[in-house]
Order: sequence, then C-alpha cells, then structure tokens
Amino acid sequence: MADIRLEGVGHSYDGGRTWALRPMTWTWRSSRAYALLGPSGCGKTTLLNIISGLITPTEGRVLLGDRDVTGVPTAGRNIAQVFQFPVLYGDMTVYDNLAFPLRNRKYPRDEIDRRVRQVSELLGLDAHLRTRSRRLDPGRQQIVCLGRGLVRPDVAAVLLDEPLTVVDPALKWTLRSKLKEIHRDTGHTLIYVTHDQTEALTFADEVVVLKDGAIVQAGEPGELFLSPAHEFVGHFIGSPGMNVLPASVRDGVVRVGEVAVGRATGDLPPGPVNVGVRPEFVRVGAAPSLPGIEARVTAVDRMGPYELVRARVHDRDVLAKVESGSGHRPGEVVYLGFDRAYLFRDSVRRAALARLGPGTAGGGADRPPDAGRTGPPGAPGTAGPGGAAGPGGAGHGRGGPGEAGPGSTGSTGSAGPAAGPGGGGSGA
Ligand SMILES: Nc1ncnc2c1ncn2[C@@H]1O[C@H](COP(=O)(O)OP(=O)(O)OP(=O)(O)O)[C@@H](O)[C@H]1O
Ligand SMILES: [Mg+2]
Repeated sequence: MADIRLEGVGHSYDGGRTWALRPMTWTWRSSRAYALLGPSGCGKTTLLNIISGLITPTEGRVLLGDRDVTGVPTAGRNIAQVFQFPVLYGDMTVYDNLAFPLRNRKYPRDEIDRRVRQVSELLGLDAHLRTRSRRLDPGRQQIVCLGRGLVRPDVAAVLLDEPLTVVDPALKWTLRSKLKEIHRDTGHTLIYVTHDQTEALTFADEVVVLKDGAIVQAGEPGELFLSPAHEFVGHFIGSPGMNVLPASVRDGVVRVGEVAVGRATGDLPPGPVNVGVRPEFVRVGAAPSLPGIEARVTAVDRMGPYELVRARVHDRDVLAKVESGSGHRPGEVVYLGFDRAYLFRDSVRRAALARLGPGTAGGGADRPPDAGRTGPPGAPGTAGPGGAAGPGGAGHGRGGPGEAGPGSTGSTGSAGPAAGPGGGGSGA
C-alpha cells in the first residue's frame, strides 16, 4: 500500500474563475483512517473525486506512491469509493453485488466466497445474501454499498463520501465502529467524508478540516479540540464551539476593552486580535482575580453532567462549561479566567495567551497556563483533553501551541495544509 500524494492539486469548475478546491499539496499516509470534515460546498466531494479519478484536476498531480495517476481513469487506480446514496445492481442479489468487484478482477471462486462472507458477517448482511438488493430498504442498500467498498483486499484506499446519510441513526454508531474494526483488519487507507464533527472525531486517526476549498488544519481529534489553528476549527469542532472575544495587543499585553487578560506568546505585532477560548477552559469565579474579566451571568443551562454558564462581557456572550451544582445564577457578577486560550488574527492562530505575572511573564512559556490539566467537565469523548493528543499532538513533531499559523501544524511532515488568508499554496 502506498501514500496518496496531491501535488499542487486544485480544481475549478468554471474555467478558473473560482476554485472549488484551492491548489494544495498534501499527503494521505498509507493505512491511516482520515476524516475529511467541512461544511457543505467546501470541496469534500471534489477532493475525493480527484483522488478516485472521477475528476481530473485543473492543476497539479496525483501520485499513488511513486506512480503519477493524474490522467489515469478510476478503473486503473485501485481505489474503492462509496457514495452518499446507494449505487447497486438492483436485480442482483446482495451476495452477487458484494462479489461483483472481486469477480470483475478475476479473483478465484473460493477467495470471493470467503471475502463476501467475511464482509457480510461484519456488516450484518448474512440474512439478506440471497435477497435482490432492490428489495432492501435504502439504509440496508447503503450497507451493501459499504460492503462493496470494503470487499476488495487489494485496494490502495477506500473513499467514503458521507456514506451513512441514509442509514438509521441507531445503526450509524454500530456501523462506524464496524468500519474502524474493518480498518484495523485490512489496513486500508480510509478517507471518510462527513460534515458531522462527532462522526469525524469518533472515527478518525486524523481529521482534516476543509473550508472554502482549502485545508485549514489537520490533526488528531484531541489536537483539533485543544489547539485550533483557525477560528473556523474552533467553531466547527466542539459543542458549543469556541468563544471569540475581540481584543487588542500592545507591548505583548492582551486587553479586552481596558482589562489586561494576559500576555501574547512570541512576537505578535500590536493590533487587534480575537481571543479564542473554549467553554471548557473558561473559569468562572465569584471574586475578582487577576487576570479576570468582569462579566454578568445572563443564563445558566443545566445539561446534566455539567452546566453552561452564559456571561456577558461588553457586548459579547461568553459560554463556560462548569460542573453541575455550581450555584451560579442569572444577574450575578462573576470574574472570568481563561485556562487555555489563543490569539487569532485574520482568523488564523498567531499565539497563545499566557498568564500575566511572575509565573509566565519572562518565563518564555509558549504554551498556555494549565495546558496539561485534564478532564474539564463535559469535554467530548475522544476530543477531550483527556484523549490521546496533548498540546502539539502526539508523535508527529508538530508545532506546539503558540507557534502559530496552520502552516506549522502540517500533519504529515511532507505537506503543510494550504491555508491562511488568501488560501492556496502549501504550508502557507
Ligand atoms: N459539477 C459541478 N459543476 C459546477 N460546480 C460544482 C460541481 N460540483 C461541485 N461544484 C461546486 O464546487 C464547490 C465544492 O463542491 P463539493 O460538492 O465538492 O462540496 P462538498 O464539500 O462535497 O459539499 P456537500 O457537503 O454539500 O456535499 C461548491 O461550490 C459546488 O457548488
Ligand atoms: Mg459532497
């Protein structure tokens, strides 16, 4: 199996007037499970179709290992693709549909039978093997499509384009974990397109976030949660998303209004910034503390295991996830502190917010205070700080927080995400 490398790949559907996919250089590493996450229209399907060969990109080269496949049609690429809606031979039985990709490639009969039964058992299709596929409901038909995508042992990659859209929600969970199991078994490279963050975070080794045709960040789920490199990632991942407070930096000191809230790590030129802090990392105190922003509680939502405190700062709401039974009440004056916050300029992370005072002022701390603490209330399962990735990600030699710019968070070592204001260009 080989890496899939996109070199300067970009695509325009309108003769170059607009990019559906901005020129990017990016490597999908062999045997990894990727989620490709982004809102509708950001270019996810375009990207998959370029990899599978359904689209020839306007610019750039597609490489499977060392082989340039840019002009090679789908059939010559050894890539399986599962679409959003079922594409099956309705008159064929489920068994024959599953066997089709293998028969097509002249696999021996007993090997075909073995593979079909294996996949069928994993996906719970055994009772339907002799049924004509058009007699199945759409959800079940889609599971057969999944099976067809997974049945070939020899593929370089399996591309799944929102494959569970028509599947019953209860079944989705089961199927996702089956997919993970199959991935562990086969070691195929998987690229799983979704616009659902939960799906992406639970499924993938690495999540690639696409916005307006460019990769804005890629990393392990925990890393995207803890260290968003772009405001969009802060909003899109996490529930609720990251708080954003307009602020300014002068002489390294960050102020919200007149209140100094911390110090910028690194050399950030003076000017406006947005402080981004996840609700999980907002502390709500009853007494003034330094640094602390005075705020007025406007609502407290009881969410079961945690409470969501909404507090007004100037004309902005800041949400804080706190342990249930906090006793906070609407109308109360509170002081907010930030345990892990970043500074964004032009939507891109430029620095971390470090604490004012002797502990950090001259200490060269380029990670936020309390960066190593674990388990804020209500942090999402795999995305929480208790998860695999610590600051800077695990084992990929990525830049830690404060080293700014999506370009420095490049996931594969060989390719930085094409991001930043203005889009294109690798590792911009
Ligand atoms: N065949 C086409 N002709 C012209 N424009 C297209 C075509 N397919 C996609 N586009 C445009 O290219 C952009 C990216 O579309 P794409 O389908 O890749 O997005 P997507 O992320 O898959 O969206 P969704 O989540 O809705 O499936 C969009 O602006 C879309 O309108
Ligand atoms: Mg799509």
